[in-house]
Amino acid sequence: MKIIVTENFQETCKLAADMIADVIRKKPDARLGLATGSTAQGVYPFLVEANQSGALDFSRVNTVNLDEYVGLPPEHPQSYRRFMDENLFDHINIDKKNTVVAKGTGDIEENVKEFRDALAKKPIDVQLLGIGVDGHVGFNEPGYVLYDGAHVEELDESTIDANARFFATRDEVPTRAISMGMGDILRAKKLLLLATGENKAEAMKGLLLNEELSAQNPATLVKTHPDVTVIIDRALAKRVGYIQ
Ligand code: GLP
Repeated sequence: MKIIVTENFQETCKLAADMIADVIRKKPDARLGLATGSTAQGVYPFLVEANQSGALDFSRVNTVNLDEYVGLPPEHPQSYRRFMDENLFDHINIDKKNTVVAKGTGDIEENVKEFRDALAKKPIDVQLLGIGVDGHVGFNEPGYVLYDGAHVEELDESTIDANARFFATRDEVPTRAISMGMGDILRAKKLLLLATGENKAEAMKGLLLNEELSAQNPATLVKTHPDVTVIIDRALAKRVGYIQ
């Protein structure tokens, strides 16, 4: 596991965007695994800028997103499909037919199957990851077991609390999501896990301070990956106790 401590969140995002751009330049038809949430949101403006300045071409790139809320249609302001369109896809020269975000409404079992089929088509060249306050990656929540493939996940109360900031009331936050499984994530060729914010300190301790793998902190499983880079800013790294 390669761990990079940056001066601040901006530097984290720039570095992550540069690493993703590097994958695309080496492989113009790369498959990107993408993430939502405020952390990933900081990365996309750098990719948009690179594309708009002519330095990065997305015309042959295809993408697959980690997860989607069950119950939110694509046009809902908090759906992850809408998030991706607004933060990235609408501003770059990607063909939206080549972007996969699981469908959160309709026949959910069928949507999971469709998502599984999409994942099986092509390996992910680089997977961008944030981390939940409880250590979730994608929406793989802590528990006794973790899942290999795409599935429906019941969201933890702490996840609902954390994501309530995006909704008018806590009651509007969906309680379930379709998520890639831990196996899907670990099968990506390269992982980039970004962490920022004091509320991630407990989860990051499990990742950075010991060798334990725990289903109670799903992010710890990325330790087993042969090509994982964790990017964390100085403030959080100090809080975790990873640096003085
Ligand atoms: C969300 C997403 C995750 C994301 C995490 C952290 O609920 N499903 O993929 O990494 O929680 O989000 P944020 O970056 O907003 O703290």
